[in-house]
Amino acid sequence: MELTHLQEKRIRCEAILPYILKDLLYLDFKEGEKTSSLADSEELSSLFPQTFSRPILKCISRKTDQNQGALRVGVVFSGGQASGGHNVIAALFDAMKQIGSESSLFGFLNGPKGIVENQYMEITEEIIDPYRFQGGFDLMGSGRTKIETEEQLQKSLTTCEKLSLDGLVIIGGDDSNTNAAVLAEFFLKNDCETCVIGIPKTIDGDLKNEHIEVSFGFDTACKVYSEMISNISRDALSAKKYTHFIKLMGRSASHIALECALKTHPNAVLISEEILEKKMTLSQITKQLADLISMRASMDKNYSVILIPEGLIEFIPEMKDLISELNHLIAQDSVNKEMESLDLDEKIDFLNQKVKSDLKSAFQLLPKAIMEQLLLERDPHGNVQVSKIDTEILLLKMVEEELKERKKEGSFKGKFSAVRHSFGYEGRCSMPSSFDAHYCYSLGYLAAFLIKRKMTGYIACVYNLKDIVQNWKAKAIPITMLMNLETREAKKKPVIKKALVDLKGNAFSHLQKMRVTWAKEDAYRFEGPMQFFGPSEITDTIPISLLLE
Ligand code: FBP
Repeated sequence: MELTHLQEKRIRCEAILPYILKDLLYLDFKEGEKTSSLADSEELSSLFPQTFSRPILKCISRKTDQNQGALRVGVVFSGGQASGGHNVIAALFDAMKQIGSESSLFGFLNGPKGIVENQYMEITEEIIDPYRFQGGFDLMGSGRTKIETEEQLQKSLTTCEKLSLDGLVIIGGDDSNTNAAVLAEFFLKNDCETCVIGIPKTIDGDLKNEHIEVSFGFDTACKVYSEMISNISRDALSAKKYTHFIKLMGRSASHIALECALKTHPNAVLISEEILEKKMTLSQITKQLADLISMRASMDKNYSVILIPEGLIEFIPEMKDLISELNHLIAQDSVNKEMESLDLDEKIDFLNQKVKSDLKSAFQLLPKAIMEQLLLERDPHGNVQVSKIDTEILLLKMVEEELKERKKEGSFKGKFSAVRHSFGYEGRCSMPSSFDAHYCYSLGYLAAFLIKRKMTGYIACVYNLKDIVQNWKAKAIPITMLMNLETREAKKKPVIKKALVDLKGNAFSHLQKMRVTWAKEDAYRFEGPMQFFGPSEITDTIPISLLLE
């Protein structure tokens, strides 16, 4: 593979570590109070008898007289790509060598399936070095296999025992860290010595709480998307003839849409959580956007930039109910059997008869293409694959119809010509921002130390992220702390609760304050490409939502 000059320069960059993590001989833990889960503590404590209610572990600087023995650790990328993952591996490698020069690191191939099927590679210095500060998960590949059956759990245990692993590091989002908690519990129950540690990864930004300030990958993805949104805004401002509907990845939560709006000041941004709270219907959202376009047209501005979170459809109450009804129907074997031999039109007719009567109008409102997308297979964790739903096209078409009507009535005199964009995969594998690169390196270092101290069922947390890297702090929290019970594929399951946009938080309040101005004025902010070299006020920026909150 031919390396660009930038790649070469990035590979040679030195990761900065917080002072607290620099010398693992001077790192110790202070146990905090016992913890509980977010909800359903009784059920969860019986499902996780070994790992539930463990204390938070705060890292402190104290000389410890630990033996520097070699470690054997396995690591896996799980779920969607997020920038910085390779630096987690590089840090694990470096920290383990600091702990014991004979340490060995094994990377499981193509996601959790690699653990079940015992497929791995040994990671050596020659292998990891070209991946330092690089994007993607291609060193080992990733996947979305959910480890949940007794057979899968048993096979995973066998793999870890065969490799004599002291630890297994799962680099993943909410569902993958749920997997980590399940494995940790299963290993303890079966006297397997392998500790399981989670690393908070996801561009979606929905794996966070008062301890985890942000998941890695969010910063880079938002920077990449914001550069592209800024370019579109400037194009809109130059050509003055298009309304741009831009869908942004992020699954359920609207953290990415909110962050990109704070960075780029679009004319409108839909926030799914707000739409749910206001119980808005699809037609109200359509009217709201048509009002914005009409208002701007009356100012002779026949162009706009509108941001749409990819998970929107699941938050429109009528659609949310429809989706959970569809999930319920699709999960029934009898329904599945009957649908097997049907073509799309027949499937739609069949389901139309089956859905509850109060949801029929919502079902019929949707264009066939969107219905088809709603019927796609759920991912292995039971999530609707929102990245495959063309929400921006749905809204564009509905707004177009609404404006046609208004034109007929004479209430819209402007011009409407729309362009759709969907930004998702474009932002997941970029070279990591400096923030994500150093953050990931710190997380990997901490994970190695947690394994050294035989901690299991924990997720690594590096915090105080608004300060300079050297002053970041570290701790670990039990994964069960983030959990509750949710209905997935028509069954109650223990899962990590997705953290949604806090409508009372400072980031959303700031958007609320500014959005009227941004709607009328062309207050676009031009983010520009992410920078790696130069003054720190350009290279070391952190998410605006993190700064505000
Ligand atoms: P994770 O939660 O696994 O990090 O994945 C995030 C994400 O990028 C979502 O934003 C998106 O909806 C989904 O992955 C797309 O999934 P896939 O990569 O399987 O198409």
